Amino acid sequence: MTGRYQQPNDDNVVWHMHPVQRADRERLHKHRSAVLWFTGLSGAGKSTLASALEQTLYSKGVSTYLLDGDNVRHGLCRDLGFSDDDRRENIRRVGEVARLMLDAGLIVLSALISPHCRERQMVRDMLPVGRFIEVFVDTPLTICQARDPKGLYNQVRRGKLHNFTGIDSIYQPPQQPEIHLNGTQLITELTTRLLELLNERIIINL
Ligand code: ADX
Repeated sequence: MTGRYQQPNDDNVVWHMHPVQRADRERLHKHRSAVLWFTGLSGAGKSTLASALEQTLYSKGVSTYLLDGDNVRHGLCRDLGFSDDDRRENIRRVGEVARLMLDAGLIVLSALISPHCRERQMVRDMLPVGRFIEVFVDTPLTICQARDPKGLYNQVRRGKLHNFTGIDSIYQPPQQPEIHLNGTQLITELTTRLLELLNERIIINL
């Protein structure tokens, strides 16, 4: 497996190189693997867009997996909250899962707010060069507040929810994302742009 690995705590734990490698699995799937890392405010449309893209890829025979922030917080990350440390651990865990899925030959779609540049860079550094595709779903806060699909901005307004991204917890926009999307555009247009990007980068050939 490629990408930057860290030494485990115990020196007696050694890395095993298994004969079936990512390239073998990619041949089986008939496409390359990649991690599309959607980032943006709550309500920006990350999950909706990732889900639409996944449906399109699936219908064309591409092997995918969608790691949705809200969903992983029901299991893998259910012990974590929204402090900076917890968000960092949330992103680290999902990054590690994405790395395994990349090795399994999948196109991974991760939809987490991932508010800090530092943590997104951490995930980028975990993965082989060229396989981390940062997708900035750029939707103005006012639009996210108006959409308010989960009623959370309303809770913030009523003082019932604190540490909320974009309000009293920082969101750092990506400086050089692989793709910068206007989150107010139609999902079909945005999906098309992402398919074009995957084709340009020779991840898929559709
Ligand atoms: S992240 O910051 O750690 O990347 P993540 O994407 O997993 O966040 O979870 C965000 C989702 O949790 C939001 O879409 C929203 O539904 C919910 N949520 C609950 N509390 C907060 C909060 N304080 N800030 C942001 N999102 C919150």
